[in-house]
Amino acid sequence: RKCILIGAPVDSGKRRTGCLMGPDSYRTAGLAQALSDLGHTVEDMGNLSPATHAAEPDDTHLHQPNRTIGWTNRLIRTGQEAAQRGLPIFLGGDHALALGSVAGMANHAASVDRPLFVLWLDAHSDFHTPDTTGSGNLHGTPLGYVTGRGGFTGFPVITNPVPEENICIIGLRSVDTAEREALQNSDIRFHDMRQIDEHGIARPLAAFLQHVASQNGLLHVSLDVDFLDPSIAPAVGTTVPGGATMREGHLVMEMISDSGLMTSLDLVELNPFLDERGRTAHLMVDLTASALGRRVFDRPTRSFS
Ligand code: ARG
Ligand code: MN
Ligand code: MN
Ligand code: MN
Repeated sequence: RKCILIGAPVDSGKRRTGCLMGPDSYRTAGLAQALSDLGHTVEDMGNLSPATHAAEPDDTHLHQPNRTIGWTNRLIRTGQEAAQRGLPIFLGGDHALALGSVAGMANHAASVDRPLFVLWLDAHSDFHTPDTTGSGNLHGTPLGYVTGRGGFTGFPVITNPVPEENICIIGLRSVDTAEREALQNSDIRFHDMRQIDEHGIARPLAAFLQHVASQNGLLHVSLDVDFLDPSIAPAVGTTVPGGATMREGHLVMEMISDSGLMTSLDLVELNPFLDERGRTAHLMVDLTASALGRRVFDRPTRSFS
């Protein structure tokens, strides 16, 4: 496949900075080489910058809304164009980049007349709107935006909302009250860590992937570093204990690879300033490789019965 790396050093989605170093950290950790070792073609578009935007208002509870609007405009256009040529991999950058990446993929899906599905791997549901966010941090709003919830004044109008029933969130363990209400009243499929503890991570994922396949859907995967347990992935500003283990992470990515369904990917929230000798960046690269075909063995050993 042709993998198109899109550097999206978005750092406007929250107050703690550092995610702007994410794209170069993935490059340093060997992402392009890992993908080409798997037989893929790799094109690196370099790092984007936000489209022209107005100065930030001072009469709002939101943090840097206009810069995020600039990024959203840029990423919708660039992502939509890249999706026609290959598999876009958005190198974040914080999760505010997904306002643009997912909206762009939704436009692309509509242009090829196929439905878009979204797999959200995250400790958080990111289902706020500018009206419900308590923190004012727009990295907590991408799923609210792409599903067409209101309140996103000044943002590009959502022309192709992602139907709630096409979204699956796995890994939840930090959900704000307003999001919780909205999620429970939505058709989004959501799986918290307790469910994963009880039933395993494979079951809900397999059900979702099967659904995507049955609808001939495109699949966008959004991988937030904080989906993973902080003990293996410390380089993120919003750590929440009790996350996915290394093997759960790889299993998810290997199942995605087996399904052959993934058509675009976000790698978000890596803050290299908080990393320990690059281990989080490396793990994210390894997970991406698993999602794109890396295996220990291609088939189980034959049995000796
Ligand atoms: N729900 C919290 C908020 O809205 C945390 C959001 C964290 N989002 C993320 N992409 N890490 O501020
Ligand atoms: Mn997130
Ligand atoms: Mn998160
Ligand atoms: Mn390595």
